[in-house]
Parts: sequence; structure tokens; C-alpha cells
Amino acid sequence: MFVRASHLVLMLSALLISACGVDGKVSKSEPQEEVPETPVEPTDPEPTDPEPTDPEPTDPEPTDPEPTDPEPTDPEPTDPEPTDPEPTDPEPTDPEPADPLMVNGDFENGEVAPWVGNSGEVLLTNVASQSRSGANSLLVSGRTQNWQGALYGLTNSVAEDSTYHISAWVRMDNLASSDVRMTVKVSDGNGDRYEPLAQASATDSGWVELAGNYTIATSGDVAEIAFYIEGPDAGVSYFIDDVTVTDINDDDLLRVDVDHLSALAEFPIGVAVPAGDAGNSMLNSPERQAIVEQHFSQLTAENIMKPSYLQPSEGNFFFDDADALIAYAENNGLSVHGHALIWHFQIADWMANYSGDASAWQQMLETHVTEVASHFEGQLASWDVVNEAFLDDGSYRNVDVGNDAGSVWYQNIGPQYIEYAFNAARAADAHVDLYYNDYNISWNDTKLNAILTMAEDFIDRGIPISGIGFQMHVDKSGPGKAKIKEQFQKVVDLGLKVKITEVDLRMNADGSATSLTNQLLLQQKARYQEIVEAYIETVPPSLRGGISVWGIADPDTWIVPLYGNPDWPLMFDDQFEPKPALQGFADGLAATDAEEPEQPSDPAPTDPEPSDPQPLFVDDFNAATSWANEGADGQLAATLSHNSAEGTMVVDVPWASDADVVHIKTWFGQELDLSAGNDISLRVKLPADYVADGNLVVQVYIEDSAYTPAFTGWQMASGFVAGDWTTITLSGVGPDFSFGYDGGVDFTKVHAIGIELVANGKDPAISGAIEIDDVTIH
Ligand code: XIL
Repeated sequence: MFVRASHLVLMLSALLISACGVDGKVSKSEPQEEVPETPVEPTDPEPTDPEPTDPEPTDPEPTDPEPTDPEPTDPEPTDPEPTDPEPTDPEPTDPEPADPLMVNGDFENGEVAPWVGNSGEVLLTNVASQSRSGANSLLVSGRTQNWQGALYGLTNSVAEDSTYHISAWVRMDNLASSDVRMTVKVSDGNGDRYEPLAQASATDSGWVELAGNYTIATSGDVAEIAFYIEGPDAGVSYFIDDVTVTDINDDDLLRVDVDHLSALAEFPIGVAVPAGDAGNSMLNSPERQAIVEQHFSQLTAENIMKPSYLQPSEGNFFFDDADALIAYAENNGLSVHGHALIWHFQIADWMANYSGDASAWQQMLETHVTEVASHFEGQLASWDVVNEAFLDDGSYRNVDVGNDAGSVWYQNIGPQYIEYAFNAARAADAHVDLYYNDYNISWNDTKLNAILTMAEDFIDRGIPISGIGFQMHVDKSGPGKAKIKEQFQKVVDLGLKVKITEVDLRMNADGSATSLTNQLLLQQKARYQEIVEAYIETVPPSLRGGISVWGIADPDTWIVPLYGNPDWPLMFDDQFEPKPALQGFADGLAATDAEEPEQPSDPAPTDPEPSDPQPLFVDDFNAATSWANEGADGQLAATLSHNSAEGTMVVDVPWASDADVVHIKTWFGQELDLSAGNDISLRVKLPADYVADGNLVVQVYIEDSAYTPAFTGWQMASGFVAGDWTTITLSGVGPDFSFGYDGGVDFTKVHAIGIELVANGKDPAISGAIEIDDVTIH
């Protein structure tokens, strides 16, 4: 089907790696001033109102299970044959399976049942006008007394002596704010009891959680066990959503069954690790290494790649610790996310006190970024280029304000320091993804909007930015999933990547917990799950930079030294055992993928080069592989897979003879006009044991929408470096390009690009898989 070009174009390329290693480093880091969001705390409990007339019992069935099995009779010890078991009781020996604890707690089925009003006046409506997650919630209206509200019956689902965690989220409808309460009602042989379980102040501008634990204790003769939500004055209506009832001692819920977390994702699953001379350095810690190697595919240095560590005194760069960490990552097949090139914090004293005018400061900044990014060129998947440049009010971090430390970068250079950093990083490393990273943006609209205004301006002006990093140092109770999705969506809408860079979950911000209870473990599991779900459901595969957790195990967390309370924000515990949080994360990865944006070749690429901001086509394989075998007769079929740790496509060819040929290609989803002559480049990595004797040829071809192909040039594999990357660049591909084949290709309607791998008359052609990356048409 294809005619091959008759000429060979040999391209040689070299990787530029600059290295500067010098002595000296900073061993101490200062306290961190960032204040992650605080949860909404319940206000003072007020005495509950005198209790009302009985709500209708929802279910007259008593809860007592039937007595269980009779004692089994021991077989006679002497009898060689066991005696027949006693004839079984005609009664079933086990109690009926209990009802599920919560049916319709998220109201997504559009129904109200089994919720009922606790009084005839109450009107319950399933509405789509509000929701904390998903699309629907329950509107409670028609109330004529403050004790009236929505009731959920538990009579048949709960067991004596068991403890349940009940949680519901409430938002006011027709009043700006009101106290709300959750109350448990028990009717048993001792009559009716109403027990307050939780109280909070709800508003009409957000959701608040009502949650508490209840241990079932009855006197027998149970007629009803239920809970309901009450409190606001007569006439006031409110919404309820995401109600859960959890048996906090249920082994099934606490169980962790995750073999390899990162194997469940097509994108990097990362972790921040201590290294260098940190007392808990993972490089000296077999327990930590075991966790990292089993569950993660990417590392972030928790501290040692920050400015104070890499340039401890002016002009003296110290890379030994970072290089050791990267060597470990490489040996274990992990990619590395660089953190952080420019930050106001953890900079060495000489930098903080640098004196010079704006242009001297610019030069000092660019020197740091250039030296560091060049040193690590080709070794990192991504960089946090600038960290925390904005405040919560959407202004640039400038001088010290309250708890917010100022930024010497802004003070001395102005807001342009941010683009200087991005430009210098791109100039030093053409392929690494470049992120702007910040905290509180998973809930703070003002701050995220300000950052996205900057990002849009960068895109318009060709300043290279690949994505936004959400630190996500968040709390056990917020922000909710819907809010998180809304924030991710804003970034996706700009065509930028989203990376969760530092997630951890503060479980004890108010200091009320003294130990890590089952309830906290389960709450944390649910939170990790919803955060991961929000990511998968909102960020399409092509825009996923990955999710990284800020620390390996609870003893490593920065949260405890920062705030002082005991806390357990991570997915592994003090004994380095997995917590239910790990299961929650894994369960979250099973969520349904967000759809790719309609226009796969949207001219706003994720990472424009400053010199040519809008390549016509880029596939950096960071998220997935959309290539396919050409499938023509006589060609081999390659197995194509995605290397998510590296962000590359892996092409495995079952070479059998010296005449074998493979064609793989991808479609643009639109017609590109290449009639003016364009540049095509791609990177190719051959296996480490490849013998460079020209036994493999790589060729690029394009195809027009009438499926007429044109080959654009050859690259003999003898020009490649075994085990390393080679860049192939073809300039001026178009009608005037010298093709061996003149097949009337319509260069105004190019709809696909392909790669041909040819055994080139040598047998065997090659062994091991070939990797491809960064296919670009400029
Ligand atoms: C923290 C580290 O975890 C601590 O060890 C260090 O003392 C201070 O910095 N946002 C960031 C990270 O971008 O660099 C911070 O890391 C946590 C907040």
C-alpha cells in the first residue's frame, strides 16, 4: 500500500545536559506559613426544643434478630465417623440479612423514598436545583414547627450495641442561615427518646455537615429507630444531600485490598518523599521504599529541590542529594515531578537579601531557573515552576500581610517574574511539563480565577504553561466533591493540564481527636475517594498530570509540626501499614472518565513553545496513547501501550523476518493544512541492548483525508543511541519536500500522521520495545 521514499535522511541529535555540582546545602527549613482552609465548625449546641408529637413510625418491625444457631453438638470423640449433625432446625438459623444502612442518601435516583416527613405537614421533594455532589438533593419544606424535618428509618438495619456514624450535608433554601440539628429517635419498651446527635450552623451559600456517632442501646421491644434533621423556624426550607450511615466497626469497610495503587491508573500516582539529610529520608528507610515501590509511579522531593537546597549560596549549586533521589527513581521505574523552581519560601538567605535593581533580580532568577532546569533536563516529567504567587484574595503575593509572607520576587521584579521563570524553564528543557502550583484553589474561586486570568494571558502571549497544580492540603470535611469538580473544570476549559500535587487530609483541625478512630479512618477513606473521583470525572485523560500525596506515612506529615495537633493525613499509618484511605483512593480510580474535549487538535495546545506558540499538532503521550496499527496486509501488528510513569508510547513489535514492516498512526480529528511546508519532529528511544548497525529504520508519513499517504523522510536506527532518546526533525514537510513518492497527496487536507518501522533487511531487526514521545507538527 505504501511506497517508500528512496532517500535516507540521517539526523543526528544530542541531548544537552549541563551539570554543575558544588558543595554546601541548607539543612534546616523554616516553618511554613501556609494556612490550609479551616473546616466549618458547629456553633454552640443549644438545648433542643421540647420534643414534638410522634412522627409516624416508619417501620413497625422490631429489630431483634431471631436467636441464632443452637449449640452444635460435639461429635463423640471415640466415634471414627462423626455423628450426623442434628437435624437442622426448620427455622432458618441466621437472621434475615439486615437492610442496607442507607438507601437513597444521595438522592440521585430522583426519588424521595424511603425518606418521610416526621410529621404530616412536611413536604419532601427530590430536586435538581441544588446538590452537594451529583445532580440532586432533597428539599424539605412545608414545615410548621421547628422540630419538623426529613426522617430516615433505621429500625431494620441497625443492631444492638453497634456504633454508627451518621453524616448529612445541609444547605439553607429560603433563609440566609439557621441552626440545624440531627436527632436520633428511639421508641422501645421504655417509651420514646429523642437524642441530639449533631448541630451546625447552615447557610444558603454552601453545604455544612451534620455528623455524629450513635451506639444503639435499647430496652428491647423496639418499635422504631430513626434519625431526622430539624431546627430551622417554621416556614424555613432547606436541602439535604450525601447522607451516609456507616457501621464504624465493620471489617469490610475498614479492609484494604490494594496490590499496586499506581497500576490502577494510566497517569502518574505520586508521593512526596523526604531525602537528603532529613532524618526520615526514604533513601535510608526500607519501610518507606517498600511503600513507594509497591504503590507509586512518581516522586516529588518534599524539600531537597527547593531553591535553598539547590543554590545555598550565590552561584553554588548543590545537586548531589537530588541526583541521588532521581537515580533511585530511575532504578525503580518512577518518574519525577520537580518542586519547586521559584517560591517565596525556602529560599536561601542570600537570595532573600539579594540587592540589585529589577533587571539584576531578573537575571538572578533566570540563572537559578536555567541552571536547575538544565541540570535536570530530560529527567523530569514536570516542574512546579512558580509556587504560591497569589493570595487568597486573588492579589499577587507582595509584602507580608497578616499570616501571609511576602514574596521578594514580586517586590523586586513585579508580576513579570512569573513569566520569566516559565520562559527560562522552557528554554532549559523543551519537553518537561510546566505547572503553576498553589493551595486553596480547590475551593477559593477568587484565587483560582486570578490564577486562570494569568494563565489565559500566558496562553495568548505564548508564555509556555502546561497546567495548574492543585496542592489540595484540604480538610476532612471540605471542600465537597461538586466544588472540587467545578474548580478542575475551569482549568480543563482552558485546555490546561490539572495535577493534584500535594494532597493530604487534615483529620483533626479542631484538635478534638486524640486518637485515630475507625470513624476518622472511614471518613478519610471516603474523602480520598471523592477527591480522586472528582479528578477522574472532570479531567479528561489527555489533561491528567497525575495525583500526588504529600508524604508517605503519617509520621512523615508536615501537618503535625505545623499545627501541633495530633493528625493522620496520609494513606499509611505509624506502622507503615495501609489505611482505609488507600482503598478509598483505589476505589476513586474506578470512577467514570471525563470525556475528551470535542476538538482533540484544538489550536490551544497544552504546552506551546515560546517561539512558536501554536504547533498544529502535539502528542506528548503524557496521558494516554491514541495510536493504532495501520492494519494493512503484509504488515506486522505492533502492541501499543502507554508508559504512564514516563508519559511515552511503547511500541512492541513481534519481529519475525528481515522484511517486516510496521505502520502505526493517529488521526487529528480534523484536516490540517501543511501546504506551506511544516516541521515534524518526534523522539524515539531504542532498547538499551540495541546494536547500532542499521537494522531498523524509522520513517514518518502523513496521510490526507482521501487516505493517500506521503512519506516524509527516513531515519536510520544506526544514528540512534541505544537506550537513549533521539530526536528526529524533518523540516519543510509539504508539497515542496523532496519525496521519493509523488502520489498526489493533498497537503491542504492532512488528517493523520504515521510512523513506519522497517526491519531493513537485517534479521533480527531488533529486540525489546521502542518508545516514542513528543510527536509535534509546527
Ligand atoms: C513543606 C514540607 O513538607 C516541609 O517539610 C517544609 O518544612 C515546608 O514545606 N506547599 C508546598 C510544599 O508547596 O513545598 C510544602 O512542603 C507544603 C505546602
